[in-house]
Amino acid sequence: MIKKQLLLIALFFASLASMTAQENKTTIVKSSDAKWWKEAVIYQIYPRSFKDSDGDGIGDIKGIISKLDYLKSLGIDAVWLSPIYDSPNDDNGYDISNYREILKDFGTMADFDLLLKEMHKRNIKLIMDMVVNHSSDEHEWFKQSKSSRDNKYRDYYYWWPAEKGTPPYRWSFFDVKSNAWKYDATTNAYYLHYFSQKQPDLNWNNPALRKEIYDIMAFWLNKGIDGFRMDAFQFISKDDTFPELPKEIVKNTLEIIKFYGNGPRLHEHIQEMNREVLSKYPDAMTVSEGAGDSPEAAMKFVDPARKELNLAYHFESVDIGNHVREFGLVKYKDIFSRYDEVFKDKGWLSIFLANHDQPRMVSKFGNDTPQFRAISSKMLSTFVMTMRGTPYNFNGDEIGMVNIRFDKIEDYNDVDTRNKYEELKNAGGDLHAFLENKKQTSRENGRTPFQWNARANGGFTTGKPWLKVNPNYTFINAEAQEKDPNSVLNYYRKLVKVRKANPVLQYGKYTLLDRENPNVFSYLRELDGKKIVIVLNFTEKESSYNLGFSTEKSRILLANYPKSKSIKNNTLRPYEAVILELK
Ligand code: GLC
Repeated sequence: MIKKQLLLIALFFASLASMTAQENKTTIVKSSDAKWWKEAVIYQIYPRSFKDSDGDGIGDIKGIISKLDYLKSLGIDAVWLSPIYDSPNDDNGYDISNYREILKDFGTMADFDLLLKEMHKRNIKLIMDMVVNHSSDEHEWFKQSKSSRDNKYRDYYYWWPAEKGTPPYRWSFFDVKSNAWKYDATTNAYYLHYFSQKQPDLNWNNPALRKEIYDIMAFWLNKGIDGFRMDAFQFISKDDTFPELPKEIVKNTLEIIKFYGNGPRLHEHIQEMNREVLSKYPDAMTVSEGAGDSPEAAMKFVDPARKELNLAYHFESVDIGNHVREFGLVKYKDIFSRYDEVFKDKGWLSIFLANHDQPRMVSKFGNDTPQFRAISSKMLSTFVMTMRGTPYNFNGDEIGMVNIRFDKIEDYNDVDTRNKYEELKNAGGDLHAFLENKKQTSRENGRTPFQWNARANGGFTTGKPWLKVNPNYTFINAEAQEKDPNSVLNYYRKLVKVRKANPVLQYGKYTLLDRENPNVFSYLRELDGKKIVIVLNFTEKESSYNLGFSTEKSRILLANYPKSKSIKNNTLRPYEAVILELK
């Protein structure tokens, strides 16, 4: 009897102990924190360059529809589609002349509706690019606005009457003279354009304009799209008293943001947008392109308590320099770690190495020589897929496309590159050095047509492509990689699967290891007792590392070399990447 009682008491204490152990586990994902866009892999499509269905040399919506099964086969969850609205294409669609129409080159609204339906059928979500810092100068609002000073649309834009003298200097991203004010004789006034002269800035101080924008967003959300990438969004608020700013201050992105971004009413506007539109579509995701000049500033966009947006997309890690060899891996690791420190408990980040404004991922962060292109592409995708935050893949990176490196200015279409070249030419600058630099840095490197196969124009078009196809399409193309189990493409598919199968890679805590190692980026991800270590060699040399603990009892979940034996002696081969589950 006594024995039985003792046993019961022992059992009671044992169960108490196990309950406490259970509660002590770090449970990071509360169900209210789980969101589809934290678990998703996002694929960016640059529609002009993705797939042409009608032989006019320009990618289009029907082309995208024809490739939806390819997208599905990657395992991705959502597509971010660069703008497809009506546009005179000064900046390839980032200058919108009608927010409710589709650009004819891309197709019709019926094509769009079909695209959305076919995507949803395959469980792929659609994120549209919303460009509302500025419109096109060919938008009806601007035509009205510039027609007379008392037009009802006058205050949809920023005007500076010429009788007040020259307006205070404002810097422009794309303008030939880096001057954001353009004189217009019709009403003897200057209008503001942070980007090209054909992209006048919208005046968010005007409530009527804001209401128009919210209606446009609701129009697309009511069609059933799944969210927005808000273009150049940190610039929407300006002080319309236009105080003097120091001249020629823009040495780097942080200075641009300091003087031109994060305007006085920015967060007030975003909160209103949330109240008026986004809160009515709680499942939609929104990501701001640009998120201030520090992790703390980025948090303000996405702290759930502030009711603004969902994901921050900051530039520090892509604007750090031209090549990882130059800026150094330690500095690079530090950016991700600094951001993660601020975002570890709330808010959410986007992880990306490239997009349509950047050179190719492998040419900037990896090594695009024949020897290392494939292996370093795989290593970089391993990083994007395992770092804490939502991973983005820019179309073509999943097959390891590289910079095209144009020799002549005539090959470029990009307003930014062409205008800067003109500016330099007028100033008598070194044009050769400029073109050499652009081979590494121009955003047009990332815009060359997708390389589908080894047939003419890489199978992108049967016509003349709007931008040259990289001649290496004969050996770098999706079709060839489909057949090769060790291709960059098939490795990408495996990576997506590993991420999906391991919530720790989505929600798990991030800890940087071996911080000062200049060659190897390694980190630990942890969730509910599960631990995964990622070790990545960012160099073409064999490199050793020191995690500070043994990985003897571990299992390789995925590695980019067929046999990753080297992990045993803490040394990685060139660009080697290993994902290890600790036992
Ligand atoms: C964003 C876009 C870029 C565009 C600019 C102006 O940065 O990503 O392509 O040129 O805004 O809209």
